[in-house]
Amino acid sequence: MKIAPSILSADFARLGDEIRAVEEAGADWLHVDVMDGHYVPNITIGPVVVESIRKVTRLPLDVHLMITDPDKYAPEFIKAGADWISVHPETCKDATVTLRMIRQLGAKASIAVNPDIPLEKIEAYFAHIDMILMMTVFPGFAGQAFIADVLPKIAETKRMIGEKRLPILIEADGGIKADNIDRVVQAGAEVIVSGSGIFKTPDYAETIRKMRQSVQGLHSL
Ligand code: DX5
Ligand code: ZN
Repeated sequence: MKIAPSILSADFARLGDEIRAVEEAGADWLHVDVMDGHYVPNITIGPVVVESIRKVTRLPLDVHLMITDPDKYAPEFIKAGADWISVHPETCKDATVTLRMIRQLGAKASIAVNPDIPLEKIEAYFAHIDMILMMTVFPGFAGQAFIADVLPKIAETKRMIGEKRLPILIEADGGIKADNIDRVVQAGAEVIVSGSGIFKTPDYAETIRKMRQSVQGLHSL
């Protein structure tokens, strides 16, 4: 299991320190939520911030684009240092083209799936992705309540990927904390995003330790 703290819940005035703190606390990746005020009603950060983050950490940068024109901006985020790019298919003119472009530019490609999007709608992209980002909240804000109805969809995705022997990771994002991470991992997620579940706790190392402890010995590990 990889833990990817979402910096959306960090103290942006002390971003470098916050990133160093989660890195020392045992984070595996950093999740960067990019929102444009169009696809979602919130505005967060752009490529210049990613470029600065790249300089202060060696953790893989997992950039989640919640923007209306990912074809235009994905190259800028990759140039700034993104290792992974997730796009929502409904924001792309042709998501296959976007995913191919992301890979051609040297990043790993991922498709982000909102809670109300059925699996049949994303199966067509399986050949073009390295990861599926399963949203366990509707995109837009940190600190929302976890939607447990997504768990069977994660399990079904895991089953399909296993059956087809595809090298695709499953990431889960939204409302995940030390007290529900076990259900998400049990369902089949391998990369766990947590924003407020880490940054709003007093001791990041203790929180990440608790998260790892609660999934120890689970069947899908
Ligand atoms: C929601 C974002 C999530 C979110 C995670 O739109 O994609 O990454 O910030 O934050 P928590 O863990 O607080 O739900
Ligand atoms: Zn996200």
